[in-house]
Amino acid sequence: MRPYDLLLYGATGFTGRQAALYLAKHAPADLKVALAGRSESKLKAIAESCGRPVGIVVADSSHPDSIDAMSACTRVLLSTVGPYAQYGDPVVDACVRHQTHYADITGETPWVRRVIERHHQQAVESGVRIVPFSGFDSVPPDLGCWMMVQAIRERYQVDVAEISSYCVLSGGFNGGTLASALGLVDETEMENPKVLDVPGQSLPVVPPISRVSWNDDFKAWTAPFFMTPVNAAVVRRSAGLFSASGRGYGPQFRYHEAWGSRSRLKALSLWLGVIGSTPILKSSAGRWLARRFGPAPGEGPSEATMDAGYFRYQFIAKTEDGRSLRGVFGDKGDPGNRVTVKCLCETGFALTSVEVTPGAGGVLTPAFALGKELLTRLQTAGMDIRVTDS
Ligand SMILES: NC(=O)c1ccc[n+]([C@@H]2O[C@H](COP(=O)([O-])OP(=O)(O)OC[C@H]3O[C@@H](n4cnc5c(N)ncnc54)[C@H](OP(=O)(O)O)[C@@H]3O)[C@@H](O)[C@H]2O)c1
Repeated sequence: MRPYDLLLYGATGFTGRQAALYLAKHAPADLKVALAGRSESKLKAIAESCGRPVGIVVADSSHPDSIDAMSACTRVLLSTVGPYAQYGDPVVDACVRHQTHYADITGETPWVRRVIERHHQQAVESGVRIVPFSGFDSVPPDLGCWMMVQAIRERYQVDVAEISSYCVLSGGFNGGTLASALGLVDETEMENPKVLDVPGQSLPVVPPISRVSWNDDFKAWTAPFFMTPVNAAVVRRSAGLFSASGRGYGPQFRYHEAWGSRSRLKALSLWLGVIGSTPILKSSAGRWLARRFGPAPGEGPSEATMDAGYFRYQFIAKTEDGRSLRGVFGDKGDPGNRVTVKCLCETGFALTSVEVTPGAGGVLTPAFALGKELLTRLQTAGMDIRVTDS
């Protein structure tokens, strides 16, 4: 019997502090919750603001014994300690060793590839679920595609051929996210669409869109979306995992993703931002400027900005013979904070009801690990997630 059901590692960070409050407010009364981090005094201050009893566990990623003890004292561990390529390995390693279900909010696909290589097979066999990408990247596109695949099957009794999504959003930017982005600029695997594929996966590769163009389906000007390298790889992994377990999304399944605007000028400015930011961050001067003037680790947008934020994905799923269904996945609140926190914490609640069953684990995606259970929880938590027909 472990002392805690659900533990949040990184509770003192910008996202972590919000997640701690979400857990305190929404966790069922009988769930034993703990907050973990490297500073006991900061943890105590946050615990006092929680309004319910929560445990405190001091752990530091550079002290393996503390990580080991932390991972063994809970059934489910959520981590907001990033950049994950820098701090994540000992935590995931310990969770696999102790058969503790794990979820995080990384978007660092090359790091997750290395986690897959190290742990997927062992996690499958032992039944522990490792669920990276449980924040805004990539729960909405991953679970949204899963929902559309099920809807096409139910309505037309065939597999889906392709899903297109169009996202609009407004929000702020965290120092932790900037630190992770700076750690990724030289990672060539970030652009590899197959970076998360399962062995033998042979779905067609969809080149990301590269310019601004009018999209008649969405009645908007679409532009390349900066999240697509992550989201598309996660959706491909879901399709591959489902395929390996019996029924995939469809033998020729393709996923297209864009953002944009009704205004051509705004779509062009989004495009310029995406194509301009990579060379800027690759230059040492650009990196210096980002560190000097961007948010530092621990910082993020104001409460007002986070409350005013929103996102909305629209989906169109098509069959090979041209029949289609539409869907939406959206919510109020800053995607990188309010939405990420809701996705992560609801993933954590869902994992607390999952037994460690040999054969049913692995390094998974949100859609494959939790599917309907997570979707229903997010709907209940206020997200607008539904199939809207055509
Ligand atoms: N998926 C998404 O949409 C999404 C959204 C937001 C953030 N993120 C990712 O989430 C991560 C955190 O972001 P954030 O904005 O919350 O960052 P942050 O405010 O800088 O928080 C980082 C956390 O890591 C902790 N930490 C740093 N080094 C540690 C160590 N050696 N041992 C233990 N803890 C350590 C910090 O502890 P102290 O408080 O003691 O410094 C802090 O709690 C980043 O990787 C970011 O990219 C993803």
